[in-house]
Amino acid sequence: MQKRISPASAISGSLTLPGDKAISHRYAMIGAIAEGATRIHNYSTGGDCQSTLGCLRALGIEVERDGAEVVIHGRGLDGLREPAGDLDAENSGTTIRMLAGILAGQPFRSRMVGDESLTRRPMQRIMTPLGQMGADIRAREGKFPPLEIHGAPLHPIHYDLPVPSAQVKTCVLFAGLFAEGQTSVTEPVRTRDHTEIALGEFGADLTFTSIPGNISSRKITVAGRPRLTGRELVVPSDLSSAAFFLVAALLVPGSELSIRGVGLNPTRSALLDFLSGMGAKIRIPDLESVNGELMGEILVEYSPLRGGIIDGGLTAALIDEIPVLAVLGAATRDGITVRDASELRIKETDRIRTTVDNLRRMGVEAEELPDGLVVPGRQKFRAAQFESFGDHRIAMAFAVAALRGDGESTMDGAEAASVSFPGFWDTLALWGQAN
Ligand code: S3P
Repeated sequence: MQKRISPASAISGSLTLPGDKAISHRYAMIGAIAEGATRIHNYSTGGDCQSTLGCLRALGIEVERDGAEVVIHGRGLDGLREPAGDLDAENSGTTIRMLAGILAGQPFRSRMVGDESLTRRPMQRIMTPLGQMGADIRAREGKFPPLEIHGAPLHPIHYDLPVPSAQVKTCVLFAGLFAEGQTSVTEPVRTRDHTEIALGEFGADLTFTSIPGNISSRKITVAGRPRLTGRELVVPSDLSSAAFFLVAALLVPGSELSIRGVGLNPTRSALLDFLSGMGAKIRIPDLESVNGELMGEILVEYSPLRGGIIDGGLTAALIDEIPVLAVLGAATRDGITVRDASELRIKETDRIRTTVDNLRRMGVEAEELPDGLVVPGRQKFRAAQFESFGDHRIAMAFAVAALRGDGESTMDGAEAASVSFPGFWDTLALWGQAN
């Protein structure tokens, strides 16, 4: 599907966005292995989170869904049933990597498959710890989906995460729920902690230990065989989806935008600090805690920005926002440099390559580095024929770039946005006449 996007004169008004993708996956998966019903309000309507629901149904879980309202009828730690066929994670790396942790502890065999993009994404990162815990997992060429998971009685381990990945951390903690004893994970830098918060809400027993000499790391320990109980939960709106409209408002002079009910978990909200640090006028007038997750309204006004550097732990904290921040970089005074981001090469696409490719299509100069990119500032945005390469965040990042173009742009493969944000094009059409 192709979309046409016109330049916008201002991005103003008030928005409510779909539920957070990362939190939705976790509530659904933990709900399935908890006892009794879990009612989830504002569940992500994105395709990835529907893939998770499809897999849970195939594992014998009754799931009711009415738009963003979802009820998961949990069957307890030992209640999943052997699936009759393959479990299809479609485009969702989060589904395959996190659910594998639960499947590793089951007394049956399952097979997880995905679409063409998922089939190219590395799985050793979860196969290694799950293998150490006693599961037998086979993969195509030893590393790619489909994954054949022969569940087993698991034993607890301590695992030092070699890469900062919340998906891998979650996979190990989920597997730890099925092991007798204490399973622990140490992260090299702090990644999103939705799993830890959600497990606590459902009744799991977790402890946190700081690591001497490394304030950005910590050890998380989960006790095996907890009694998890179904809950009523509200998912905040997705800050990673809000990022596209925050950047749109910062790109288009005269903008003044409010985005309500956004998830502001401190392990995700580095985006706001980074933007503010460059000079963005951002305010959060109210902040509340819902099921252990912070949420609030974000007010943003168009602001001239200085530019900045994203590296180290900041790269991990901003990993999903880097394509749209690279777009923003071209409009700043000093540009944006991204380092330590080789993880971007193994997302839904190689996001360093697909970002630089689209930047060049709009006449923006950008240098590709092995682990990042450099986008000089003060550049002009030309109208362009963009390509999503089937990646939702690339589709949305460059649709936003088109709002500042000097004419009408097009986006091929625009349907990719629906993986995390099905209403994206309708929302954009409020300002950019996307059709
Ligand atoms: C996610 C973690 C991140 C992120 C992905 C969602 C999660 O992936 O890019 O969109 O829900 O835990 P990694 O864990 O591979 O960094």
